[in-house]
Amino acid sequence: MLLTISLWLLVSILILWALLDPVSRVSRALYEIIIPIIMVKTVDLKNQFGEWAVVTGSTDGIGRAYAKELATRGINLVLISRNIDRLEKTREEIIEINSTIQVKIIAADFSKGRSVINEIEKQLKDIPVGILVNNVGKQYTYPMYVGEVPEDEMWDIINVNVGAATSMTRMVISGMQKRRMGAIVNVSSGSEMQPLPLMTIYAATKVYLKSFSDALRIEYKKFGITVQHLTPLFVNTKMNAFSSRLQVSSVFVPDATTYAKNAVATLGKIDTSAGYWAHGIQTFFTLIPPKWIRTRVGEMMNQTFRNDYLKQKNI
Ligand SMILES: NC(=O)c1ccc[n+]([C@@H]2O[C@H](COP(=O)([O-])OP(=O)(O)OC[C@H]3O[C@@H](n4cnc5c(N)ncnc54)[C@H](OP(=O)(O)O)[C@@H]3O)[C@@H](O)[C@H]2O)c1
Ligand SMILES: *[C@@H]1O[C@H](CO)[C@@H](O)[C@H](O)[C@H]1NC(C)=O
Ligand SMILES: *[C@@H]1O[C@H](CO)[C@@H](O)[C@H](O)[C@H]1NC(C)=O
Ligand SMILES: *[C@@H]1O[C@H](CO)[C@@H](O)[C@H](O)[C@H]1NC(C)=O
Repeated sequence: MLLTISLWLLVSILILWALLDPVSRVSRALYEIIIPIIMVKTVDLKNQFGEWAVVTGSTDGIGRAYAKELATRGINLVLISRNIDRLEKTREEIIEINSTIQVKIIAADFSKGRSVINEIEKQLKDIPVGILVNNVGKQYTYPMYVGEVPEDEMWDIINVNVGAATSMTRMVISGMQKRRMGAIVNVSSGSEMQPLPLMTIYAATKVYLKSFSDALRIEYKKFGITVQHLTPLFVNTKMNAFSSRLQVSSVFVPDATTYAKNAVATLGKIDTSAGYWAHGIQTFFTLIPPKWIRTRVGEMMNQTFRNDYLKQKNI
């Protein structure tokens, strides 16, 4: 009798323990959806973080939309991307939105690694950066097996996704610490939630970013610095050009402007977020099944995208 009871007790505790992890993950996701809804007051970004923002990868997609949203908040901008013509065009678009702000442009290719970082550092010497948006990111041309990834593409992914965010953060964080204010925003990806077969390297770099943000936040919290980690799911940008399925905007695949408006509104309110409410809901449901199922589903999705791509290219 006693044995049966203790056996059942043990089993119940084990089940409870096993359930606790998904419960905490899922309630965290729920919390992230709710906070921006209850905290309706707009944060004065300029007062709270500073007058200047640096946005990497800012001439297209999420980065450009994010920069424009900051412009409407009266923040001066430094735009960093590879192509000088696109940079100038983006600067004009932004000045049109708000002619009272200053916009500086820097042409740099983060896939070149350390050499461009020194050049950027020189150009940012006299600018008190209040917000750094680590947005630039490189994804696979299409889903591939690790052995198929061209060597150049592999290094580009690592240099851009890991190197740029890490070195840009290191560059600006001491200034923020001195001024005792600042925000570092990391644009990661839903692919950090589980390993992603056929996008192995990309997903792994995004996990690096998550760990980096989480640790950085604790290191610098005492200096008044906010570290926000954004995990968008699919956004309709040219990054997803390999699949026509992802080139149609919808509630769940928003355009970059919608995404950025929502994401900027969460800054200063919550440290980790999908950045956009419908993605928050998707994340919530995504986190319910165990990781091994999510990994399999991710693999199947990418297999589909791979087939889409190969069909488009007639390979
Ligand atoms: N779109 C999505 O569905 C999605 C989902 C989850 C996460 N994300 C993440 O969101 C971020 C932005 O993605 P996106 O879709 O907005 O990208 P995007 O539309 O492809 O825009 C990329 C931007 O980065 C610049 N850029 C690209 N390579 C660069 C390099 N080597 N050095 C400097 N600048 C470079 C591009 O300008 P130039 O070509 O002029 O350099 C462009 O301004 C990425 O970190 C991505 O991982 C996107
Ligand atoms: C432009 O920036 C100023 C602050 O420099 C701000 O007060 C104003 O609201 C912004 N204007 C627009 C149209 O976004
Ligand atoms: C953003 O996160 C990624 C990983 O979490 C990290 O590599 C990067 O340095 C972080 N950047 C900032 C500004 O926190
Ligand atoms: C593979 O699927 C995951 C979602 O499971 C997605 O985040 C990722 O972007 C996909 N990769 C490609 C290249 O579509």
